Amino acid sequence: MSLTDEQIELVRGSFAMIRDQIEPRSVGLYRKLFRFDPSLRKLFTGDIGDQTMHYMTALGVIVDNLDNDDVLMDRYTTLAEQHAMTGIGRADFETMGAALIETLRENLGEAFTEEVEEAWNAAYQELAEEMMELGNIR
Ligand code: HEM
Repeated sequence: MSLTDEQIELVRGSFAMIRDQIEPRSVGLYRKLFRFDPSLRKLFTGDIGDQTMHYMTALGVIVDNLDNDDVLMDRYTTLAEQHAMTGIGRADFETMGAALIETLRENLGEAFTEEVEEAWNAAYQELAEEMMELGNIR
């Protein structure tokens, strides 16, 4: 995989700082997503609080397994399947990436250094590319 060992540590260390209070710390994620692109709101049928927890749980498994390609590919495949029929496209992954980075920045404050941001961008890029490839999302 394309992340360096150091980047894996940076992603893990920073996620660990928000993990114990993941619910209040991630409420901004979908708020930001819908602010960046209000047309995405209608794609979500359930409770957004629940959706946020599903997202963060999936992200947590990925963060925990950034050095375990087998588990990672398994998760990417499941996520790709879950998104293949949602009608989302490449541009939506960019919007979600921006919402995630801003949510992390807001929560981590000074701990969100340039290196941490780069590491998260690399991790998200890989996740997004794999999901799009495996789910045939264009
Ligand atoms: C890249 C990281 C992403 C992760 C970790 C993630 C995670 C998840 C998870 C865990 C679910 C629930 C699946 C289920 O229970 O069936 C889900 C559903 C969904 N995701 Fe994502 N997702 C990601 C990216 C995106 C993007 C970029 C979009 C587009 C805006 C998106 C739109 C949706 C939609 C529309 C649903 C179905 C919601 C519903 O049926 O109410 N996801 N996502």
